[in-house]
Amino acid sequence: MGSIRSVADVGIEALAVHVPRHYLDVGTLARANGVDPGKYCFGLGCRRMAVVAPDEDPVVLAVRAASGLFERYDIDPACVGMVVVGTESGVDAAKPIATYVHRMAGLPRDCRTFDIQHACYGGTAGLRMATGWVLGGLRPGKKALVIATDVARYEIGSPGEPTQGAAAVAMLVGDEPRVLRLEPYPEAVHTEEVMDFWRPTYRATALADGHHSIECYLRALEGCWGGFTSSSGLGLGAFDYLLYHSPFPKMAFKAHKRLYELATNGAAGFDPDYERRVLPTLWSNAEVGNAYSASLYVSLAGLLEHAEVDAAGKRVGLFSYGSGCCAEFIAARVGDDAAAWRGRTGLRQVLAARREITHESYLRFRQGHEELARDGSFRTPLAPDGVAFCGTWNHQRVYRDATWPAAVASARPGDTCPPSDVLRPAPRPARAQAGD
Ligand code: CAA
Repeated sequence: MGSIRSVADVGIEALAVHVPRHYLDVGTLARANGVDPGKYCFGLGCRRMAVVAPDEDPVVLAVRAASGLFERYDIDPACVGMVVVGTESGVDAAKPIATYVHRMAGLPRDCRTFDIQHACYGGTAGLRMATGWVLGGLRPGKKALVIATDVARYEIGSPGEPTQGAAAVAMLVGDEPRVLRLEPYPEAVHTEEVMDFWRPTYRATALADGHHSIECYLRALEGCWGGFTSSSGLGLGAFDYLLYHSPFPKMAFKAHKRLYELATNGAAGFDPDYERRVLPTLWSNAEVGNAYSASLYVSLAGLLEHAEVDAAGKRVGLFSYGSGCCAEFIAARVGDDAAAWRGRTGLRQVLAARREITHESYLRFRQGHEELARDGSFRTPLAPDGVAFCGTWNHQRVYRDATWPAAVASARPGDTCPPSDVLRPAPRPARAQAGD
């Protein structure tokens, strides 16, 4: 009979990040929009925003994050028994991203796959679901793969535009939590039906009641913190680092200010406290922009990969907020051998490999996405190698991956590369359904 485990034995065993290969400097965006760059850079705390090329989408980011995780930590994909994708950038109203990941990351068939949607809370919901699944113990020896993947898109010229970004974070969840161990305190959650940020299914871009959304976020933080402190007995001083969902870095500043006021009754000393406990978690968010469900875990990777921080064994508080809204505060411990894992998240490598683009290219990339999303716009992918989104054909998204025939995989940009029976079975002729 196996030993009885508690949530203290469960958490993140490995974590890897993938970001798009281009970024736009927010100063460039400000000048193009006729806005003082100080507003985007200092008012919002943004620096660069990750921009997806037409052949990158939430699926491609997720698959690349998962493949990076398996390669850099030398993990056999056969250990995965469940894939949960947290996303609010769904590419299909029915078919989950998790199924694409399952095939392209080479995962075993005896595997459960599904997506979770609750705005930016989806990744945390996936993490909680995965820890419960591990503790349930019905798949001994198996691990859960949780991926938070998102592409944040607002209307051009809207207040949300400078906060755009994209990233995917893949996390292997199991009972050897060397990266992050979740502490066994009672759940501290907050739900409230609000209309602060949303994306109707007929739109490609999100809508936000921006200032209202900030108030909803802060109210949810107060709710979670109140629940956490009363059930755990822990105060702010118990935490070495606080990681807040960061739609833009200034939001984390506002959140910590609110928490600090609550926890200390407005005592002096906020600024050094913020610089010590929060600032080291934000540099990666400033590089990537809002990655919605992945943002909190981009912060975690940033802390683990911080050049001047040794996070080993440190207690961190994670505040996850998903508009709509649901939020949670989680206490966790970074693994004692964090230094040994430094570099494995891939964060610094993927950031260093990026190229800056002009404002004109950014606008062209957005148009390219619209074109590829139109049915029948399948074309040769732009990226020289690896997983790529090629377009939509017969109402199906087509991806290039390792299983493509060599002739197609080696096609060069500009080549015409129509899909054929080689790539996927010819679709059956459409038949009229009863009631059509
Ligand atoms: N130099 C320096 N600072 C300047 C400046 C300048 N020239 N001009 C303005 N600022 C400052 C302002 O004083 C303000 O600072 P404070 O917040 O400290 O007061 C800051 O820049 C922003 O200015 P505005 O409030 O006027 O900005 P805005 O109204 O145009 O847009 C926003 C801000 C509402 C957050 C907008 O970016 C937005 O709608 N974003 C999307 C929604 C969002 O991110 N909400 C966050 C909570 S919801 C969530 O977290 C879920 C999620 O991921 C979306």
